[in-house]
Amino acid sequence: MTDIHTPDVHTPDVHTLHPEPGSRPAAGADAAASPVAITVTGISKWFDSNDGQQLEVLKDINLAVPARSIYAILGASGCGKSTLLNIISGILKPSRGQVCINGVLAKDFTDWRTISYMFQEDRLLPWRTALRNVEFSLEAGSMPRHERSARARDALQLVGLNGFEDAFPYQLSGGMRSRVALARSLVQQPSILLMDEPFSRLDAQTRSLMHQELLRIQQLKHMTIVFVTHDVEESVVLADRVVVLAPRPGRIREIVDINLERPRDSTRPEVTRYIQRLRALI
Ligand SMILES: Nc1ncnc2c1ncn2[C@@H]1O[C@H](COP(=O)(O)OP(=O)(O)OP(=O)(O)O)[C@@H](O)[C@H]1O
Ligand SMILES: [Mg+2]
Repeated sequence: MTDIHTPDVHTPDVHTLHPEPGSRPAAGADAAASPVAITVTGISKWFDSNDGQQLEVLKDINLAVPARSIYAILGASGCGKSTLLNIISGILKPSRGQVCINGVLAKDFTDWRTISYMFQEDRLLPWRTALRNVEFSLEAGSMPRHERSARARDALQLVGLNGFEDAFPYQLSGGMRSRVALARSLVQQPSILLMDEPFSRLDAQTRSLMHQELLRIQQLKHMTIVFVTHDVEESVVLADRVVVLAPRPGRIREIVDINLERPRDSTRPEVTRYIQRLRALI
């Protein structure tokens, strides 16, 4: 065991805004009864800066994400959102603290294929068709080609892209490319989907369509989703809980339950109240 400081796991203080009378619980409101998919305990992270100093980017982050829930990590640019997601995904090691996935310490966790990571940029390979881009996620294993292809077709269908299997990325719109990237994340049938501002480059209308698609697929596949955003509206429309990070060093300022039924129309007063509340926090 390394000598790391690991404070007790706790769910940080939760600030719950009042739901509108008559509203139905959010999709993850029964999450209290679910097992915990991701536990982040006492995570801090320092980077070496050019002047030989250490830059503290994250400080004592504690989170417990129930299975099948949707969490948003919201904060200003540079407050450590991507760093936190990279630590959860295992791409980065924390300087202090630990991550557990499905109850297993990250250092002992072997089933990383149950976690998909969707990056901000779509990272499609331009010389491959949509189908072959989606298949790419399965190529590291020993799955036979025909099964890879069948699974990739299913994933493209799931995101509404049947008929575009043979299109190259340059032949697709921004929204369609995002759908291919989402299909590539889903083809492994992950139980946990991590997303770093995946729709931030899309226009508002396409982004809204992608939000609906994501919610539909999450309901269907029962995934746990943690996504990073600096878009307050996106966090309120999608998440069961919004984790607001304060900057320098990144630390949890507040966790807000979004107790609203879905779909959430961002023009409705009960939704705008959450948006205003969160805007005041970041
Ligand atoms: N590998 C690295 N080495 C040194 N500093 C880093 C490294 N990665 C990130 N940082 C610093 O850590 C801080 C947080 O970066 P991070 O990318 O996590 O922020 P973010 O909240 O995702 O920002 P944005 O919204 O702009 O994507 C920044 O000050 C950044 O310069
Ligand atoms: Mg980032």
